Amino acid sequence: MRYNQGFWCFEAEIMSNLIVLGAQWGDEGKGKIVDLLSEKFDAVARYQGGHNAGHTVYIGEKKFVLKLIPSGILRPGVLAVIGNGVVIDPAALLDEIAMLEAAGVDVRSQLKISNRAHVLFPFHRTIEKISEARADRVPIGTTSRGIGPCYEDKIARRGIRIADLVDNNFEDLYRALAGDKKLIAEAFEISEPGNFDEILAQYQRYAEQIKPLATDTSHLLNQMIRGGKSILFEGAQGTMLDIDFGTYPFVTSSSAAAGGACTGTGVPPNKIDGIIGVSKAYITRVGAGPFPSEDLTDVGEQIRRAGNEFGSVTGRPRRCGWFDVPLLRYTAEVNGFDSLIITKLDVLDSLEKIPVCVAYEVAGERITHMPASTRRMEAIKPVFETLPGWQRSTQGVSCINKLPKEAQQYLRFLEERTGVEIGSVSNGPERNETMIVEGSRLEKLLNR
Ligand code: GDP
Ligand code: IMO
Ligand code: MG
Repeated sequence: MRYNQGFWCFEAEIMSNLIVLGAQWGDEGKGKIVDLLSEKFDAVARYQGGHNAGHTVYIGEKKFVLKLIPSGILRPGVLAVIGNGVVIDPAALLDEIAMLEAAGVDVRSQLKISNRAHVLFPFHRTIEKISEARADRVPIGTTSRGIGPCYEDKIARRGIRIADLVDNNFEDLYRALAGDKKLIAEAFEISEPGNFDEILAQYQRYAEQIKPLATDTSHLLNQMIRGGKSILFEGAQGTMLDIDFGTYPFVTSSSAAAGGACTGTGVPPNKIDGIIGVSKAYITRVGAGPFPSEDLTDVGEQIRRAGNEFGSVTGRPRRCGWFDVPLLRYTAEVNGFDSLIITKLDVLDSLEKIPVCVAYEVAGERITHMPASTRRMEAIKPVFETLPGWQRSTQGVSCINKLPKEAQQYLRFLEERTGVEIGSVSNGPERNETMIVEGSRLEKLLNR
């Protein structure tokens, strides 16, 4: 793939299998990047999360917010795969299918769903609501979609998978799971209303619609790879929301980091050719939890407005802060980023000065490792260096070396400090507002 005069151009080539994932706390612009890169991949496979994700893609005047379905679906002929690592709320899935079909997307022939993915039920949302509202608990600030409780059932080995939903014995499995929930509700004297029989009938109807899409997607993807096809793996959320490597417990309940791409799709690690991190030129977070480089001043507010930083799923204002080098070094290590794509550079256009968090201090001492405990993470004092802003619009700039010199200096600074190459820069939400660095590792990976 080549970048030429502001547009990505693809040539006949053998593509590699790449993972694209968030390097921060989510909302890095993965949707836009996956949509852009998916053009010449044969399939895009989503490996974790559920409809807590919100990936916004602009195609001309049209805006799509994808939650469960990988952004590749917007490219005719590209297979979109929902892997086994994803949890599926059938109502949300069918809504999304209807939204895409109304926009003319041929979802039924482009989408496949893993028969090993877990099914999310309305009582998962109820459980989450009760748990988040508990007086003695610090709320995580979840998206209230029931994602955590659904993964709880998966790990506890009582969950229901797509294969079960579309099978004749669904009713038995459902009654066993519902019985379990009723027992807990009774034991804890919880009286949230829930009509289990109604849910059963509703899910039986969903099953009919979902059945034609369900398959063994691990086998499908591996077969495609054996046949020389290329797969783009799409992470939802960001690494700092990963269940193991994120700011636990203020995380989501799945493996957003690169390793999750293999466990969440059933494609082995030796079939992955490259790992691409997506990061904003600054940083945001939705929900509670430590955030060392957060800016609580008017400047943070200015970024929120300039970047339209409001959750695409819940509409909550995103907390805004400055690019965090130690955090990026950490997520680069955990994921093994080959290259970084920096998004939303244009959001910084009007700033006179741009602080960058370059180090962490706890109790007056520099720390070189990402703390595992929330308490220690909250004790971090960020050390900032300030770079000059460019105070000029970068809109329409289509080549890195035509960016204002301060913007180039800013990008070089991030690259040097993080130790990861910047292979591409995005300066607007549209597909063509993306530049690739000529000769970068990213370019090579895309041209294999
Ligand atoms: P995701 O969850 O990582 O896919 O990101 P979201 O879609 O939740 O949030 C990113 C937002 O930034 C979306 O509204 C995108 O349209 C928008 N966006 C992506 N890249 C750029 C960029 O380079 N500049 C600007 N101004 N907006 C961008
Ligand atoms: P995308 O794919 C940003 C956050 C929630 C909350 C925590 C746990 O758009 O990047 P959950 O509902 O998953 O149990 O909530 O994770 N969170 C996200 N934040 N972007 C997302 O997805 C998120 N998905 C979950 O705000 O703090
Ligand atoms: Mg998002």
